[in-house]
Amino acid sequence: MKKIAVVGTGYVGLVTGVALSEIGHHVTCIDIDEAKVARMQKGESPIYEPGLDEMMTRNIEAGRLHFTTIHQEGFVGKDVAYIAVGTPELEDGTADLRFIESVAKDIAKNITSGITVVTKSTVPVGTNDYILGLVNDQLVNDVKVEIVSNPEFLREGSAIYDAFNGDRIVIGSDSEKAATLLEEINKPFGIHIYKTDVRSAEMIKYAANAFLATKITYINEISNLCERLGANIVDVAKGIGLDDRIGKHFLRPGIGYGGSCFPKDTSALVKIAKAVDYDFNLLQAVIHTNEKQQTSLVDKAEKRFGSLEGKRVALLGLAFKPNTDDMREAPSIAVSQRLIESGASVVGYDPIAIDNARRILPGAVEYASSVEEAVKGSDIVFILTEWDEVKALDLSLIKDHTTSKTLFDGRNCFDLDTVKEANIEYHSMGRVSVERVEILV
Ligand code: UDX
Repeated sequence: MKKIAVVGTGYVGLVTGVALSEIGHHVTCIDIDEAKVARMQKGESPIYEPGLDEMMTRNIEAGRLHFTTIHQEGFVGKDVAYIAVGTPELEDGTADLRFIESVAKDIAKNITSGITVVTKSTVPVGTNDYILGLVNDQLVNDVKVEIVSNPEFLREGSAIYDAFNGDRIVIGSDSEKAATLLEEINKPFGIHIYKTDVRSAEMIKYAANAFLATKITYINEISNLCERLGANIVDVAKGIGLDDRIGKHFLRPGIGYGGSCFPKDTSALVKIAKAVDYDFNLLQAVIHTNEKQQTSLVDKAEKRFGSLEGKRVALLGLAFKPNTDDMREAPSIAVSQRLIESGASVVGYDPIAIDNARRILPGAVEYASSVEEAVKGSDIVFILTEWDEVKALDLSLIKDHTTSKTLFDGRNCFDLDTVKEANIEYHSMGRVSVERVEILV
C-alpha cells in the first residue's frame, strides 16, 4: 500500500482521498482552510455527498486517513501527491491555474525524496508538462519528480458510487514507471484502466464533458421540436437510444445542464481551441443553446399568460440536479432572475440547497420550508430539479391551491395520464401540453 498526499479537499480531492484510503492506502489530505480541516478530522464532510461521512469516519478510525493544513507534513515521505485544487473559470473563459501553480511550488519546496505528482484537476492540454517544469525549477533537494494526468469523471451526488464503479480510470503519463505505479495504486478499484500519454489524458477529460454537454443539448433541441410537432421526446429518446452507436444514457430532456463541470469545461475547451487558431463552432452553439434552454420555462409561461407581472411563481428544486446542494450554474439562477425582471415574485424550495441558494439567487427570492408551503398561495408552479420529494408532489395541491392550476415541469417528473387524472394544466419538456377540463355542475 502506498503513502499518498491529496492537496485540495473539494468534491474531487476529498472523494479521491477517502476512496484511496478505503482500498487500503495511507492518505493525508491537505487543505489551507483550517476550519474545514478541523471538521474533517472529526469525520464531518464539508460537502453533501451520500455515503461520504461514513467512509471518512471508518478510515480515520482505521488510521489510514489524515487531514492537515501543513504542507510539509503532508508531502514528506509520500510516494504520490495528487493535486485536486480548483481550476475556476476566469472572466474570459480560460481556466485559472493559480492554485495549481502554488501547490506545485509547495511540493518542490517540501519534498525530500522522489515523488510522482498526479493531476486530478481538469487542466488545459499541456498544463501537466508546465507543472512538471515548474516543480523541477523550484526543487530544493536533488530528487526525481514524475507527472501523471489522472482526470476525474465522478458525478456529484453519486461520487462515492462512481469512485468504485466508474467506466474507466485514465492514466496519462510519458513515464512508464509512473504509469505503472498509478496502475498499481488503482488496481483494487477493479475498474478498467486506460493508459495513454499526458496530453491525450488531459484532452480526454474535456472531450468527454463537451461530448456529454453536446448530447444533452442535442436531445433538448429535438425535445423543443417534438413539442412543436406533436411528437413525444420520451419515446423518441428511447427509440434513438436503442441504437448502440447512440446509447441510451444522457438523453433526458430538461432545462439544460448546469453544475461545476459542463459549463466551465465547455467554455474552457472553446478557449483552448481559440488559442491554437481553431473555431470550435459546434461547442459554441452548444453553450449558447444551453443558456437559452435554462430559461425555457419562463418563455413558455410568458407565452401562456402574456405577462408574468404580479404573479407569484413557486420554484420546486433549486440545485442544478438532485442529491446535491451545489448551486453552481443551476438553471434556478437564470430562471429567478428572469422572473424577477418580468415583475413576478418568486418563492423557492429545495430539500438541501437553500442555504447555498440564499447566497446566489437574487435577494428578492423568498424561501419555503416544504414543497407544500411553496405551492400553496402561488399562481404558477415550476419544477426545476427532479428531487424524489418533488416527484412525489401531490398534484391536487396544484389544482386546489394555485390560482392558475398550472404546472410547468422542466424535468418531466409526471406521466401524462397521471396529470390528466389530476385535472391540472401541465406543460413539460418535449411532450404535448395537457389542458384542464372545466367540469360544469
Ligand atoms: C458531470 C459528469 O457527468 C462527470 O463525469 C464529470 O466528472 C463532472 O461533470 P455532474 O456535473 O456532477 O457530472 O452531473 P451530471 O449528473 O453529469 O449532470 C450534469 C447536468 O446535466 C445536470 O444539470 C443534469 O440535470 C443535466 N443532464 C444530465 C440532463 O439534462 N440530461 C441528462 O440526460 C443528463
